[in-house]
Amino acid sequence: MSTAHNSANIEDVAKVVLMPGDPLRAKLIAENFLKDAVLFNDVRGMLGYTGTYKGKRVSVMGSGMGMASMGIYSYELFKFYDVDAIIRVGSTGSYSERLPMKSVALVKGSYSESTYALAQSGDTDTMQYPDEDLNKLIESVSQEVSIPVVKTNTHSSDVFYYEGDLEQPEKMVEEQDALCVEMESFALFHNAKVLNKKAACLLTVSDSLSTNEHLSADERQTSFNEMITLALESAIR
Ligand code: ADE
Repeated sequence: MSTAHNSANIEDVAKVVLMPGDPLRAKLIAENFLKDAVLFNDVRGMLGYTGTYKGKRVSVMGSGMGMASMGIYSYELFKFYDVDAIIRVGSTGSYSERLPMKSVALVKGSYSESTYALAQSGDTDTMQYPDEDLNKLIESVSQEVSIPVVKTNTHSSDVFYYEGDLEQPEKMVEEQDALCVEMESFALFHNAKVLNKKAACLLTVSDSLSTNEHLSADERQTSFNEMITLALESAIR
């Protein structure tokens, strides 16, 4: 079986999938963290691999950027590939110094103005949530492996380039308790909700909208590696 966007057979994909936004990050994770990784998809360059981590099967596949792209790929993995859990491993822009550069965020709620949930299922909730048990597991693994996480809501936005409302970061922090912004978790969490599956989201802070800092490529790699280790250690439990 395959879909319009994924050429894998159902048995090619593991029950747990890590999803970075960038498909080349999926390749990097497969090459540097997994053993015996095999490519299962390259339709539209959205690379997906399955290999083993500490002897357990895990997959990693790009989600692309934005709600629509994450919406398609994660829906297909859950619905047609019988995937149980997806952990998004992405980057985020911080809205507040309470979420410092290089830190790893564990998302506890995803606020969005997006119509994704409404359009897909009539759901009017503007906050979508990760799986509680999966989040608890990630939190306890985080302590075990000494990779700390900051628990926060995120703003899951349809827009990267804003014109206008420059008060947005303050508003998101104050009104939604969202210390950061990314563009995919709202769609992922909603897909998991309608399909009765599990999802979580880990984010490394790559830039700050409050201090205007940006991580160098090298700095980004270190915190990215820690986030991947935490995600993989959680995926095999
Ligand atoms: N991902 C990383 N940085 C971001 C930003 N500033 N806005 C949206 N998504 C992001």
